[in-house]
Amino acid sequence: MLKVEKLLKYYRKTLAVDEISFTVNDGEIVGLVGPNGAGKTTILRCIIGIVQMTDGRVEVDGLDLATNEEAVKKLLAFVPEVPTPYEMLTVYEHLRFIAMAYQTMSDFDKRADELLRRFDLDDKRSDFVLSLSKGMKQKLAIACAFVHDARVILLDEPLIGIDPKGVRELKNMILDVKDRKGSVLISTHMLDTAEHLCDRIIIIQKGKITAEGTIDELHQRAQMGRNASLEDVFLTLVEENETIETTTLS
Ligand SMILES: Nc1ncnc2c1ncn2[C@@H]1O[C@H](COP(=O)(O)OP(=O)(O)OP(=O)(O)O)[C@@H](O)[C@H]1O
Ligand SMILES: [Mg+2]
Repeated sequence: MLKVEKLLKYYRKTLAVDEISFTVNDGEIVGLVGPNGAGKTTILRCIIGIVQMTDGRVEVDGLDLATNEEAVKKLLAFVPEVPTPYEMLTVYEHLRFIAMAYQTMSDFDKRADELLRRFDLDDKRSDFVLSLSKGMKQKLAIACAFVHDARVILLDEPLIGIDPKGVRELKNMILDVKDRKGSVLISTHMLDTAEHLCDRIIIIQKGKITAEGTIDELHQRAQMGRNASLEDVFLTLVEENETIETTTLS
């Protein structure tokens, strides 16, 4: 289980995340949606520990990130918005390097073979990462996140640029994490996917949570019928909040 409490992040004077609290339970897939610049990537980066939060607390399976950094990081996996792989390694070496970092080498060969096959990278296993296409690099980043059995998987816009088969594989792998009672937090602008994949949606605007709930609960909040898409609901709620904010400020 992932627990985030009063997460606050300033980049110098820019308030990116404003005391956000939420949890992702065991076996739950939560979608983080919101306009550009809302703070989604910052939240994920603070949880994984690559950006230092200004204040707040992150807990994984009862362990505090601040006091158990190494143990917590071993429980997490992260697919970044823009992958920055080690380009001078081969695809296979890259996967191996990540597995070594997580000290999960026991069934590495079998696992690597399966990941490379699922993401159509098996014929590229001996090629330098440098030579991969953009989508292939994205698939490698996803494969790296699944090379160990993380308790919590964080994905930042993972569906952009990958082909339909890759999208299908990734969705199945996310559902497998749910089945083994892991927690998944996924930021996405692809609302149709979020609607079908996520158990719960958190809407972020200007660093704050402005709505949260199951798809049905969000429909009720937006006072829209069940036929409305998540996109309709999202746009209604986001606009509503922007109107409230403008009215309050004026
Ligand atoms: N490294 C940085 N230095 C300074 N400001 C930053 C940095 N990264 C993000 N920000 C600012 O923090 C805020 C939140 O950005 P963030 O990247 O978290 O948004 P996002 O919700 O992921 O947006 P998008 O949907 O475009 O990916 C924005 O105002 C952004 O300009
Ligand atoms: Mg982002």
